Amino acid sequence: MKKIIAFSGKGGVGKTTALVLLLKYLLENKNKLDILVIDSDPDANIADVIGEEVRFRDTIGGKMKDLKDKIQKRQLPLDMPKNQIIEGDVFKSLIELDKFDLLEMGRTEGEGCYCYINSVLKNVIDTLSKNYDITLLDSPAGLEHFARKTGRDVTDLVIVTDPSKMGIHTMKRILEVSREVDLKFENIWILGNRFPKNLNDILRKEVENLKEENVQLLGFISNDEEISSINLTGGNLLDLPQDNSSYQEAKEIFIKII
Ligand SMILES: Nc1ncnc2c1ncn2[C@@H]1O[C@H](COP(=O)(O)OP(=O)(O)OP(=O)(O)O)[C@@H](O)[C@H]1O
Ligand SMILES: [Mg+2]
Repeated sequence: MKKIIAFSGKGGVGKTTALVLLLKYLLENKNKLDILVIDSDPDANIADVIGEEVRFRDTIGGKMKDLKDKIQKRQLPLDMPKNQIIEGDVFKSLIELDKFDLLEMGRTEGEGCYCYINSVLKNVIDTLSKNYDITLLDSPAGLEHFARKTGRDVTDLVIVTDPSKMGIHTMKRILEVSREVDLKFENIWILGNRFPKNLNDILRKEVENLKEENVQLLGFISNDEEISSINLTGGNLLDLPQDNSSYQEAKEIFIKII
């Protein structure tokens, strides 16, 4: 089994939270699997919610900034192809934690075109994830990365929505854009986060009405006080107690993917 699971959806709906709950489930129940977590959201850090500190210079953004500085100062070795240098930098940005590896994109600051760097990155991510059983990819909010086809090898796309019209609208736009640019996923899963039980049917109907074969309702995770509290106090979401009811819900739905 090799899976690349990407989390997408409107800003703030719970993409990162859902990814970390899946990570927790995998670490506690499937500890033989090699796991890579890629945080490709430049504005947020998964590291922040799992109690790790990552310095900017250890992120890909940081490494790319160094590279651009070197290009400007003409300090690059002339005998080495640029893509090899970028690839090497990406491998150097891999953070090896106890139980899984983490790649932080970080911000790509400054002016100038990142197109070339981005295209090399796309390949590196695809290459890198071949070394792992499971890659979890946290996508930035919005749709551009779909249009740019980052993560072409994603097997499972999880679209997270909260109980809002905008959340569901973004979910539909993601499906449309993926179709337009011909992105193929084995499975597309819709996850309702922070849904009160009496509103579940609304999302259920929305998904049924999509009438798309490979799009399925993954399930629901309730709004949870403990999750809010850990977030507010800067705690580690992986330390959420085993018997937390939202974690129990998460476990039951993630079994469908893994
Ligand atoms: N089920 C939940 N119960 C309580 N709080 C939650 C739940 N899911 C998410 N949150 C909280 O909502 C906020 C946004 O969640 P999160 O960061 O996971 O969203 P996101 O989609 O990754 O946001 P962004 O688009 O900024 O990356 C956080 O404060 C998080 O703790
Ligand atoms: Mg996030």
